[in-house]
Amino acid sequence: MSSGGGPDQRPPAVTLVPLRWWQLVEAAELERDVFDVDPWTPEMFWSELAAGPSRYYLAALVAGRIVGYAGLAVTDDEAYIQTVGVHPDLRGRGLGARLMIALLREARRRGARSCGLEVRTDNHAARALYARLGFVDIGMRRGYYQPSGGDAYVMRARPIDTVGYGAQLDAAWSALDERDAADAEPGRPDTPPGGTAASDGPAGGGGAAAPGVPASTFREGTG
Ligand SMILES: CC(C)(COP(=O)(O)OP(=O)(O)OC[C@H]1O[C@@H](n2cnc3c(N)ncnc32)[C@H](O)[C@@H]1OP(=O)(O)O)[C@@H](O)C(=O)NCCC(=O)NCCS
Repeated sequence: MSSGGGPDQRPPAVTLVPLRWWQLVEAAELERDVFDVDPWTPEMFWSELAAGPSRYYLAALVAGRIVGYAGLAVTDDEAYIQTVGVHPDLRGRGLGARLMIALLREARRRGARSCGLEVRTDNHAARALYARLGFVDIGMRRGYYQPSGGDAYVMRARPIDTVGYGAQLDAAWSALDERDAADAEPGRPDTPPGGTAASDGPAGGGGAAAPGVPASTFREGTG
């Protein structure tokens, strides 16, 4: 948003693009900020993209820099969320939900009937995100995460190939659009004098937005 003659305070545009080979070093660097324990190594990212068409990875870009990523694997009619992460400064603005919805739409497009994932048992933010997208607990894997030995819940959304589930994803996406539009409106009550957004996180957002980081506008790109 413009502050009326001062520095440009417009929200950063976030773009989702396919993750490419040449972005893997940057993605692996972000991974270390995203995951406090058991981050993927660069080699793990490489082996994922090397797996070819069974994988679908997205990067979220702000001004050309990766601020989030997510990956999907699809085998026959089973999809699997390999990873999802958002830069700590940009959490609570719907970016994780956008990435998840984009993966789930791709899973549907490829004919998957269900989607599974593992999540650390103490990862309440991720579990809430997944639950909102229809994932339920179906089991637990003790010592799943290495080298930490952390336990994981196994979650699954099923069926995802129905008209109703597609409509649920569309509704969730539209709600994020509306929230972003509201956040970008000038004169919002939490916009301090001078126009700098002090806490432009989404209304009712699960994660606290970092002070001084403006809300995001959003578009999809082809990369
Ligand atoms: C999990 C993660 C990707 C979520 O990204 P995000 O951009 O902050 O998530 P969103 O803003 O899209 O939030 C979507 C929903 O998730 C839930 N959520 C997000 N952060 C939350 C928090 N801190 N506490 C509780 N719920 C939270 C809410 O239901 C939220 O919906 P709402 O905003 O309408 O309330 C992000 O926290 C992250 O990168 N965490 C570290 C990596 C990680 O744990 N990845 C998952 C591995 S299985």
